[in-house]
Amino acid sequence: MQNEKVLSGMRPTGLMHLGHYHGVLKNWVELQNEYDSYFFVADWHAFTTHYADKIELEQNVIEMVIDWLAVGINSNIATVFIQSKVPEHAELHLLLSMLTPLSWLERVPSYKDQQNNLNKDLDTYGFLGYPLLQSADILMYKANLIPVGDDQIAHIELTREIARRFNYIYGREDDFETKAKLAITKMGKKQAKAYEELRKSYQENGDYEALGKASALLQQENLTLSDKERLAGYIEGSGKIILPEPKSLLTKSAKIPGLDGRKMSKSYNNSISLRDSDKEITTKINRMPTDPARIKLSDPGDPEKCTVWKLHQIYSDNSTKEWVVDGCKNAKIGCIECKKPIIEQINNELNPVKENIEKYKTEPELIKQIIFEGSEKARNVAIETIAEVKEAMGINY
Ligand code: TRP
Ligand code: SF4
Repeated sequence: MQNEKVLSGMRPTGLMHLGHYHGVLKNWVELQNEYDSYFFVADWHAFTTHYADKIELEQNVIEMVIDWLAVGINSNIATVFIQSKVPEHAELHLLLSMLTPLSWLERVPSYKDQQNNLNKDLDTYGFLGYPLLQSADILMYKANLIPVGDDQIAHIELTREIARRFNYIYGREDDFETKAKLAITKMGKKQAKAYEELRKSYQENGDYEALGKASALLQQENLTLSDKERLAGYIEGSGKIILPEPKSLLTKSAKIPGLDGRKMSKSYNNSISLRDSDKEITTKINRMPTDPARIKLSDPGDPEKCTVWKLHQIYSDNSTKEWVVDGCKNAKIGCIECKKPIIEQINNELNPVKENIEKYKTEPELIKQIIFEGSEKARNVAIETIAEVKEAMGINY
């Protein structure tokens, strides 16, 4: 397990579909084995856009967690929790709001975009502040790696700027330099020497690798948390680093298209839910439009003009793909035939998931227990961070 922490959240949209599965969840399942991982339901975030709607919040939260567990999110390895069960998120959000320039929030692209595109009144304080709430979610756990889609990159960028500003304002101590030097002596001779060299290399040549290596040296028992923060800051020369800057981790998986070729989304009515029956899946795929040139079986087509081909790229092996290209271009197979292997693959992949879902649905107490324990675990981390933040801000009376 590496030292780095992964954190990601999802709004409680309810039942997961194949877009969530390929775009997000499969990636989380892999990451949990490599990193200390935090996955949470961003339930407060739902109100930033849906404050006036009936959203079946409780049901959506529970069903979503069931789907996460069913695809292999393991609550024994990863910390699975719910935002509102860790009220410290609200406290950190409030404290960070004090130093967040309004213009930083106004220039987040999703702000104007969604105000223009979502057909509701989003002239609210909560909606403007929503990326900052996300920053609080992330900084609370000092997470380094945030797996997100490209629509969220601007929010991670904002988080980095907020962290930098916080550290700059509250990480400065009058005797910082003296304290940092004293902390170095606690590292042990060899480590101290390596740290000093790496620091020099970073400061003189902007060597980011050296920055990473020097930071890694700080993971040792001889140093108190405050000393670690000092030494992390001393590499760059600024002050203590109380809230480290996160990085986004772009998901590399192929995007699965919706049934109509647009992005898969429940609101477009073009999705396949993880809970659809074999029969529903078969009907949905069979109804998918294909290359319009293929009216009769004898009309040749072009896979590049067909959404079904995109599904083959996700689900089929090379020989099947060759069979598709040859069969389509030379009018040897019909579209229904072409879709068969995809239907089979989706069902193969989803059948065990559906079994898990059925099992979890009969155990509501177990789900509540998992949520409770995960949220307690998250809360323990959150309480520590809040204490440090308050200490830095002088709210320790
Ligand atoms: N804003 C994210 C979304 O709409 C959800 C989210 C909330 C999140 N807090 C987060 C994602 C923290 C990553 C990290 O999809
Ligand atoms: Fe699409 Fe396959 Fe039909 Fe070609 S044969 S148009 S790839 S469904």
